[in-house]
Amino acid sequence: MTAPIEISTHGAIGLIRFTRPPVNALGVAMRAAIAEAHQAFEADSRIAATALTGDGRLFSAGADITEFDSGRRSPLLTEVIAQLEQGRKPVIALIDGIAFGGAFELALGCDYRYALPGARLSFPEIRLGNIPGAGGTQKLPRLAGGPAALELILSARVLSAEEALALGIVDAVLPDLNAALAHLAAEVADTLPRRRLIDREVAGPQDALDEIAAPFLRRARGAPATAAALEAVRRAHTMPIAAALDWERETFRRLNTSPEARAQRHLFFAERKAAKVADLPPGTEARPVDNVGIVGAGTMGRGIAMAFADAGLPVTLVEQEAERLDAALDGIGRAYAQQVARGRIAEDAARARTGRISGTTDLAGLAQADLVIEAVFEAMEVKREVFAALDRVAKPGAILATNTSTLDVNRIADATGRPEDVLGLHFFSPANVMKLLEVVRAARTAPDVVQTAMTLGRRIGKVPVCVGVCDGFAGNRMFINFNREAQILVEEGALPWQVDRVFTEWGLAMGPFAVMDLAGLDVGYRIRQARAAGRDPAEPYPFTAADRLAEAGRLGQKAGRGWYTYGEDPRKGIPDPEVEALIAEVAGEKGIARRAVSDEEILHRGLWQLVNTGGYILGEGIAQRASDLDVIFTSGYGFPRTRGGPMHTAEVYGLARVVAEIERFHAAHGRHWRPAPILLDRAASGAPLDAGG
Ligand code: COA
Repeated sequence: MTAPIEISTHGAIGLIRFTRPPVNALGVAMRAAIAEAHQAFEADSRIAATALTGDGRLFSAGADITEFDSGRRSPLLTEVIAQLEQGRKPVIALIDGIAFGGAFELALGCDYRYALPGARLSFPEIRLGNIPGAGGTQKLPRLAGGPAALELILSARVLSAEEALALGIVDAVLPDLNAALAHLAAEVADTLPRRRLIDREVAGPQDALDEIAAPFLRRARGAPATAAALEAVRRAHTMPIAAALDWERETFRRLNTSPEARAQRHLFFAERKAAKVADLPPGTEARPVDNVGIVGAGTMGRGIAMAFADAGLPVTLVEQEAERLDAALDGIGRAYAQQVARGRIAEDAARARTGRISGTTDLAGLAQADLVIEAVFEAMEVKREVFAALDRVAKPGAILATNTSTLDVNRIADATGRPEDVLGLHFFSPANVMKLLEVVRAARTAPDVVQTAMTLGRRIGKVPVCVGVCDGFAGNRMFINFNREAQILVEEGALPWQVDRVFTEWGLAMGPFAVMDLAGLDVGYRIRQARAAGRDPAEPYPFTAADRLAEAGRLGQKAGRGWYTYGEDPRKGIPDPEVEALIAEVAGEKGIARRAVSDEEILHRGLWQLVNTGGYILGEGIAQRASDLDVIFTSGYGFPRTRGGPMHTAEVYGLARVVAEIERFHAAHGRHWRPAPILLDRAASGAPLDAGG
């Protein structure tokens, strides 16, 4: 392993440059090297000040998150920062790239901070279920004021060099490292005075703190880090710094072992693992994608077009009829105007994004597209026709993708003479907002096509996860079984609003019945009708109540009535006695004696249905890793990040306990609870689901 830092001198400046791939994380070796180099510069009479800098892209990604579960090792970051502060000579941070978390705190432990143009500063700790723990909550308020500091800590917003300058966080923005060193050499000749933040008071009032924290506290739903951040910044205003730093450090340690922090760390690494496809030949290169074609300008097509335009890629949208095409382009223009009105993007950004999307009614307009995504009506024959036509017009090497959520991608690929160029790109609605992208690898998809989709997914800000072909792929296959279980619970005696309450209290963004009302009850109804002939009569059919609601025109929010009724607030469902009566009637017809179902049973049957289905998906090789399923549920299905995803939830609960409950449900409720072999295996051996991966 190469040395974690490089040392050089520039006149009277001793420079420590971080050189630890991949992200200059402040692991123990790096901390020890910084401490040692600083000590040497302190002792060297030719050196007047120490400067810290990174590799040009990254100053440093902050604390080494891989060390968080393995116990503390000296020198701690707090100790290194204290050493810089206690030294005789000034220390200067030359922030030349990303400075996140602990690296931002290291810079706050310096006397001076200069940013180079690529500097990016942020406290991402809240996303890891924690607060900054090496002085950030006390020193940032001393520079930027308590309210601004609190907002930055709670939002985890990334500041550019200019924003950091405007907030007083950096002293100047300098054009490059040489200019910075030259500037320092000149200043140091004049002897730079010490200027430690620990010697300063927090300026400005603290009354705005509660108001700033309020929306974050609401969204955090009791996750402890948000309240702790507020308390920490309050202490910056009210306590001597030494005592406040002790409190901050203790709080950081306590939160670090909280279930929420563990879950979010799990997701941090899970998302990065998900981006990798294990069995691609080494060195597989992505194909270049500089422009994108989209066939079908409905809701999905428009959202996908916006997702690419947002990321700077030109898009050609194809729709058969001119009128529909115009309506789609108008709709996109309106959607961007709305984003401007809400203050989400600037007007010139909206203009640029709209300008990247052009339309045509002629499929031949996609002859030069590097990637074409089909988003037409969800019917096999329609899709096969589109792909046969694309096969005729697309240039050799173009990637042809389908946005199907249910259909067999292999059959779609077979409609072309180049199945190796075909795969599924399953976006989630609204496609320009939702992070999840299921990259569906068909039997003959070429490795470089998979690689391109994964790389491109990240480039457009999505969380891509590679899955195989099966009904519903990974996410919907699990979610459909969860939904079905919710309806079985209702037949047995629960009520829709009880089920929804249990899951939202547990942390899901919405309960399953509220989701059905939002999506429209006609969606599931039509799919069930289409599949009625192929249904296995031995399987229970818990959708009778849903079918009758749909047949009665109770289609959900859009009809003002579904599982709930909707009053003045068209999004807020009100429990409806008519629905309760219908459920009782259906149960009566089926001879089900309704009983009180406990909240705990509802929770466990919903969760373990997800987990058991996930087990089958893993066993069949549809997903590469259990952690990929966690990524899918937290980025595409409103599963709370503080719970880490369904598979993580099961592992924390204990796989053996989960399997014991699944076996009990199997005995009581029949074969849709047959335990997945991989769960039985891991419960017996005690190995984690991702053993070895
Ligand atoms: N500690 C340990 N490992 C880290 C890390 C950290 N703080 N930050 C990133 N890594 C690892 C990743 O796990 C990944 O490892 P892998 O290649 O084995 O999968 C690798 O570094 C590259 O990270 P990635 O996120 O894929 O690179 P990027 O260039 O897209 O983004 C960052 C770089 C720094 C913006 C991003 O990694 C990040 O936000 N890191 C977290 C920073 C953070 O939360 N710091 C505060 C800690 S208290």
